[in-house]
Amino acid sequence: MDPNIPQSLFPAHAFRRQDETPDADFYHHPRFVTHIDEAAIAAVTQLYREYFRPGTDLLDLMSSWVSHLPPEVPYRRVVGLGMNAAELRGNPRLHAHVVQDLNQQPALPFADAEFDGAAICVSVDYLTQPVAVLRELARVLRPGAPLVITFSNRCFPSKAIAAWHHLDDRGHLALVRQYLLAAGDWHSIELLDRSPQPPGRSDPLFAVVARVGAPHGLR
Ligand SMILES: C[S@@+](CC[C@H](N)C(=O)[O-])C[C@H]1O[C@@H](n2cnc3c(N)ncnc32)[C@H](O)[C@@H]1O
Repeated sequence: MDPNIPQSLFPAHAFRRQDETPDADFYHHPRFVTHIDEAAIAAVTQLYREYFRPGTDLLDLMSSWVSHLPPEVPYRRVVGLGMNAAELRGNPRLHAHVVQDLNQQPALPFADAEFDGAAICVSVDYLTQPVAVLRELARVLRPGAPLVITFSNRCFPSKAIAAWHHLDDRGHLALVRQYLLAAGDWHSIELLDRSPQPPGRSDPLFAVVARVGAPHGLR
């Protein structure tokens, strides 16, 4: 249970998972696969094109062997944090990586204001302490920096939190917004449906985008 979330908002069992064994066991073997289809990945990449400025420092949280960043855009530094070292080593966009279980240790091993943007792609549903992680993200991002959280309707069911299973797509957007509000320090929160068209032909793609710091913080 995330101690930062008021019990009245989310009951303790909301953050329980079918598989409560250590995440390190589940992610021990690398998975060089993609978790959403090509069209949904293209929607993620387009969001990054819109929100992440070229030549800046980015953090790909809950990263793997792919970051979905636009191939034509150079960034100064991209750091990935995830659970599997082989996947992270194989990610061609990363300049550096860290293996860390955020459910055991939500504190991020980065300096204050180290990054100009951060992404969490198809992974927010696995966080058992999302508010603690979002507070840390607010600390390591520069004022005004964007956080782009994307998700679809697919997951590793045994590792997703119970609340995720109980909500539909709209509910997932509302849940992630609640996380940001509970964390504080986030503004300009946008709930986006970027599902490829026509609907039903590919994986849907939803995003919650927010900016860190005071509403009039520097961009
Ligand atoms: C469905 S994959 C998505 C990977 C990648 N973001 C992508 O878009 O393909 C879920 C990712 O979340 C990461 N992850 C899961 N549980 C985690 C945890 N407790 N701490 C840190 N990362 C975690 C895993 O390493 C894995 O790379």
